[in-house]
Amino acid sequence: MNILVLGSGGREHTFCWKLSQSKLCKNLFVAPGNGGTANFAKNINLKILDFEEIKKVVINHSINLVIVGPEEPLVMGIHDFFLNDKDLSGVGIIGPQKHGSMLEGSKAFAKDFMKRHQIPTAKYAEFTAENILEAELFLENSKPPYVLKADGLAAGKGVLIIEDLSEAKEELRKMLIDGKFGKASKKVVIEEFLEGIELSCFVLTDGKNFITLPMAKDYKRIGEGDTGLNTGGMGAVSPVPFVDSKFENKILDKIIKPTIEGMKLDNITYKGFIFIGLIKVGDEPKVIEYNVRMGDPETEVIIPRINNDLGIIFKALNEGDLDKIELDINPQSAATIMAVSKGYPENYEKGKVIKGIEKDNLVFHAGTRLISGQLITSGGRVLSVTSFGSDHRKAIESSYEILQKIHFDGIYYRKDIGFDL
Ligand code: AMP
Ligand code: GLY
Repeated sequence: MNILVLGSGGREHTFCWKLSQSKLCKNLFVAPGNGGTANFAKNINLKILDFEEIKKVVINHSINLVIVGPEEPLVMGIHDFFLNDKDLSGVGIIGPQKHGSMLEGSKAFAKDFMKRHQIPTAKYAEFTAENILEAELFLENSKPPYVLKADGLAAGKGVLIIEDLSEAKEELRKMLIDGKFGKASKKVVIEEFLEGIELSCFVLTDGKNFITLPMAKDYKRIGEGDTGLNTGGMGAVSPVPFVDSKFENKILDKIIKPTIEGMKLDNITYKGFIFIGLIKVGDEPKVIEYNVRMGDPETEVIIPRINNDLGIIFKALNEGDLDKIELDINPQSAATIMAVSKGYPENYEKGKVIKGIEKDNLVFHAGTRLISGQLITSGGRVLSVTSFGSDHRKAIESSYEILQKIHFDGIYYRKDIGFDL
């Protein structure tokens, strides 16, 4: 197979690293890729929302299978574009169609889906500018903290958690009336605040069958002790030490199975990853959000734990044969620590020379570029170091040892990944 991976982060580097080991993979391409993917695949520079350009690449390189990394092309309908184009029929694409992608593309759609299929989640109501007075009344009758969510995609920034009622009302007004998140906040979901510890669960489905991948926990805040601004993710561990088999079965019975069945009942044809953001409230799992892709940096700990040939898994998924796949998971713990540029997640520095990466270590690149043979930083999240250990602490320790040898000006990483486990 000739395979094309779309995206440019650590998640896509991890896919490329793993697919390059597949016996089914003849030629591997990534678009646009980064300085690390270039070691395993041919980087092709294009914009991932330019579907016509992607079509040209697919045809020119006789691509058989496309793996879509990030959510945006899916929400914009890349899968539907492939299905509706006669030149692209027969090209497999991993990632749901527009309809299924609404599970991530619209919080209101996702909440409605969960309500309809009795999937445990926070209580909520949705509002637009037209009923803003009702929304204010709803806030007045709710308990703090107030959880406000822009309905649409807002680059991970669309969720506000606010203690003070008048501040919550003001932010609500900014979202609904002033377009704080543009079109994404024309509708706002107001949700009950859930108290608990978060974890991420990943499922692969071909629409009929599904397989559950290892669980992971990521660390979203920039600062130690889970403080400061939200980021794409500063580190992750897998498995999650507080998930025992009893809790895992609850997740399977109360969340995963009803999600898959719900999609069938709603005629959502879905081929791809489902990333379920969960929170453990007491002993019960509840859904915080759905994403229609793999998590980043969760991919950097989950994929390395899978011993199977990823090309075979994707082929089976594409052909509706996931029931023939038996996962072989490395029982060791994996941990990944993300190194970021100075200033991230706000304005950050770029163009710094990266030194000290050793070939034998698992270093997945995110914001890096190779310029005249030199590796330089080009993004907020720069690279992620993954290690294994007999438990998560040992794995985390090994990643820190490796990171100490890596350098670029302004390098920052959290020193406390796993602190709450
Ligand atoms: P989301 O973009 O939906 O993942 O939300 C971002 C973050 O906000 C989540 O990872 C949680 O930490 C937090 N969050 C979202 N919804 C809730 C909720 N109902 N209760 C408590 N925390 C929440
Ligand atoms: N690590 C969280 C995400 O990928 O959305």
